[in-house]
Amino acid sequence: MGKLPDFVQIKEVGPRDGLQNEKKWVPTEAKIAWINMLSNTGVKEIEFSSFVHPKMIPALSDAYEVGKRIKRNRDVTYSALVPNRKGLEFSLEAGIDGASVFMSVSETHNGKNINKSIHDTYPVLKEVIQEAKQAGKHVTGYVSTVFDCPHEGKIMPEAVIPVCDQLLEFGVDDLSLGDTLGSAVPIQVEKLLDQILKRYPQEKIIMHFHDTRGMAIANILTAMKYGISRFDSSIGGLGGCPYAPGAAGNVATNDVLYLLHGLGIETGVNEKKIQEASLYIQDILGKTLPSRSLLASGE
Ligand code: HMG
Ligand code: MG
Repeated sequence: MGKLPDFVQIKEVGPRDGLQNEKKWVPTEAKIAWINMLSNTGVKEIEFSSFVHPKMIPALSDAYEVGKRIKRNRDVTYSALVPNRKGLEFSLEAGIDGASVFMSVSETHNGKNINKSIHDTYPVLKEVIQEAKQAGKHVTGYVSTVFDCPHEGKIMPEAVIPVCDQLLEFGVDDLSLGDTLGSAVPIQVEKLLDQILKRYPQEKIIMHFHDTRGMAIANILTAMKYGISRFDSSIGGLGGCPYAPGAAGNVATNDVLYLLHGLGIETGVNEKKIQEASLYIQDILGKTLPSRSLLASGE
C-alpha cells in the first residue's frame, strides 16, 4: 500500500444512479436545470441519464430530451448508461461524449438487471463497445456485484477477473468496479485490488461504492492507498439499483469531497456549489438526502 494520491477525479452519477431508483418523477426541466448546475461545480464527468428500456427505469425515460437540451460545458464529459445497440443509437443522437456499458459478475443479478445470461451479454456489449469506440466515444465498463450479490452472496475476486478481461479485450477504456449492494468492508477491497492491480494499471480502475452500511468512505480510503484515484459518487447520496434489493444510494459526493479536501487531496470541485445543487434536488424530491456532510451543514 502506498501514499495517497494528490488529485482524485470524481464522476458525478447523481442524475443517473441517483435518480434511477426514485419513485417521484423529476420533471425534465428540473433535471436539465440541475445538470446545468452540476456542470458548473468543477466535476469533469457527469453521467446524465440512461438509455435503457423505459419500462425498466421509468424515472429516466426522458434521457434523449435531457441529452439534447442540457447546456454543455466544454470541460465536462457527459456520459450515459447504454445497455445495447438500440440504446447506443439513441444516446449518440442525444450527443453523449461517453458510453457506460454494464454487466454483473453474478449470473442472477445480471439476469434480473439486463435479462440475459453472462454468456449472452458479451456479444451485445462487444458490439456496443466497438461501435461507440468507432464513433470516437470514451467507453467505461461497469462491473457490478464485485463483492456481494443480493441473490448469490459473497463474490470471490477470482470471479471478477474474467469479466474485466472480456470487457477490456472488447475495448473499454476503463472499468468501474461496483459495490452494488453497498456491503463491502475494506478487507474485501484490499483482496480485490490485490488481484486486479496485478493485471491492469491502476489508471484503468474506477471504484463505485454504494453506501448502504456507511462503509463507502472507509472503502475509498483503502482504495486510495492502493493508488486508485477515480471514484463515482452521487450528490447528496442519492441512488440505488432497483434490481438490487436492499441497496441504498451511492456514496455522497459531498462526503467524498469532505474527506478528500480534509486530507489535502485536490479534486477541482467546489463543495459549496455541490451543496447548492444538493439542496436544489432535495427540494424537488421533497425528502432529506442521506449525505452526512449535507446534514451537518444544517441546511
Ligand atoms: P430485453 O427486454 O431483454 O430487450 O431488455 P430486448 O432486446 O429483448 O427487446 C425487447 C423490447 O425492448 C423491444 O421492443 C426493444 O426494441 C426494446 P419491442 O420490439 O418489443 O417493442 N428495447 C429498448 N427500448 C428502448 N431502449 C433500449 C431498448 N432495448 C430494447 N435501450 C434491456 C434488455 C437491457 C434493454 C433491459 O433489461 C434494460 O433496460 N435493463 C436496464 C436495467 C437498469 O437500467 N438497471 C439499473 C442500472 S445498472 C446499475 O445501477 C449498476 C451500476 O450503477 C453499477 C453498480 O452499482 O454496481 C451501473
Ligand atoms: Mg450503482
